[in-house]
Amino acid sequence: MAWGPCAVNATGAAVLLLLLVVLAGGGGGGGVHCLEVTRSRRALQRRYHLRSRAESGATILELRHHGYDYYSSGKSRRSREEEVGGLFSSDAARVSSLQWRAGGGGGGEHGLKVGSWTEDEALSQRRVPITSGARLRTLNYVATVGLGGGEATVIVDTASELTWVQCAPCASCHDQQDPLFDPASSPSYAVLPCNSSSCDALQMATGSASGACGVGDRTSSSSCSYSLSYRDGSYSQGVLAHDKLSLAGEVIDGFVFGCGTSNQGPFGGTSGLMGLGRSQLSLISQTMDQFGGVFSYCLPLKESESSGSLVLGDDTSVYRNSTPVMYTSMVSDPLQGPFYFVNLTGITVGSQEVESSGFSASKVIIDSGTIITSLVPSVYNAVKAEFLSQFAKYPQAPGFSILDTCFNLAGFREVQIPSLKFVFEGNVEVEVDSSGVLYFVSSNSSQVCLALASLKSEYETSIIGNYQQKNLRVIFDTLGSQIGFAQETCDYI
Ligand SMILES: *[C@@H]1O[C@H](CO)[C@@H](O)[C@H](O)[C@H]1NC(C)=O
Ligand SMILES: *[C@@H]1O[C@H](CO)[C@@H](O)[C@H](O)[C@H]1NC(C)=O
Ligand SMILES: *[C@@H]1O[C@H](CO)[C@@H](O)[C@H](O)[C@H]1NC(C)=O
Repeated sequence: MAWGPCAVNATGAAVLLLLLVVLAGGGGGGGVHCLEVTRSRRALQRRYHLRSRAESGATILELRHHGYDYYSSGKSRRSREEEVGGLFSSDAARVSSLQWRAGGGGGGEHGLKVGSWTEDEALSQRRVPITSGARLRTLNYVATVGLGGGEATVIVDTASELTWVQCAPCASCHDQQDPLFDPASSPSYAVLPCNSSSCDALQMATGSASGACGVGDRTSSSSCSYSLSYRDGSYSQGVLAHDKLSLAGEVIDGFVFGCGTSNQGPFGGTSGLMGLGRSQLSLISQTMDQFGGVFSYCLPLKESESSGSLVLGDDTSVYRNSTPVMYTSMVSDPLQGPFYFVNLTGITVGSQEVESSGFSASKVIIDSGTIITSLVPSVYNAVKAEFLSQFAKYPQAPGFSILDTCFNLAGFREVQIPSLKFVFEGNVEVEVDSSGVLYFVSSNSSQVCLALASLKSEYETSIIGNYQQKNLRVIFDTLGSQIGFAQETCDYI
């Protein structure tokens, strides 16, 4: 879908012409409006062979949206609305498990379990079997990397630390498009022992005091195993290993990752997950020498032919931003895992600044893996009230899943959508792409919702999700401890 040609700037509002086009092919389409109809669904069903290249000191990987119907299409009889409803429930589960970790930093029990299998049972008594993660189906942008001698198409997640892929021989693996990673065929592959520093780091990530491999194994050379479990019952388990990682020809020797021999969950055709979080085991920390702790992404619109990019390294000349990059400071908290926090100081709807006491203590997470932005209730309610007042001439419609502010726009040829702007500390204003303001539940516009959700409590941490980060260049500078934003029409080229 392409919104661009329809969006016209008016004072504080984008004017959107609604061309009520129902996607040919039915069943699932993007369901939107004002779209140049391309046969975009076909692109989703094609196998991904995502490109990469090195250019003026930066390494650039192609990024694509990993559609909810990718790989499941054809198998599922559910309607698009049921699919999306399920997706939003998963998204809510992710948001709540991120809360669990973001808030409970001191406790340090994240459910990222490490240990030799024999110790696992004993340790489980002391470990909460939940985690930081979420249902991976919602982590929906993918890139392709080289690992050992093969390729792996992995989900890109800024709220995860450990990268993992499915490994042969698999006790339990989901279908994936790339051949399974086979340690036996990679001479550079090796399992990491319990007494390695990486196994310690994994243990530190869990905050567990009892040792990565159990009391008896800590100093031994038995293999360091990992177990990631997700709130909906999905999991990945295996051993911590290292091998050659190759990113557009840049080779990282001894890259530490999880070789998962038992994996379950709706991972939809991917080989696994790329952890881009802040902590020691993340890809960003492990490639500090090559990329200096800087990466950025531009997330393309979903269900379109367009692709975006994940750029590793700090060469800004490869960006295609149309506005200057504005940086806001990261809020540091070593206790709070892999998350990227910044302070949200305001939100503007149309040309109106929203007032809320909730902005005073408003550390928020910038996350590539959550879809819908979730705000603390005080802030959400203020935004909702302002949006409702500016959108008052349109009839309301029932809520949908986690979205409670919906309208019936069927029959309107032209709708003025108020712009939505986040303001981060340092007066860094980030305007949300017009495609990120509303969510079209039904393809005939009878149910169109404000694409924001409320958290349950004031004490939770707001999360800026990927639906509101489309067509932006978002730069994570971990050494400079700042996050930058600029408008960019995402494209790999
Ligand atoms: C790990 O243990 C093995 C066997 O005890 C030993 O040979 C090796 O040097 C140890 N490695 C480290 C890093 O301590
Ligand atoms: C973010 O907000 C908190 C609380 O208001 C404040 O203490 C902190 O200095 C702010 N900025 C950063 C970069 O931490
Ligand atoms: C619009 O679509 C919904 C389901 O997606 C359906 O229930 C409704 O009747 C449709 N309305 C019109 C006017 O076609």
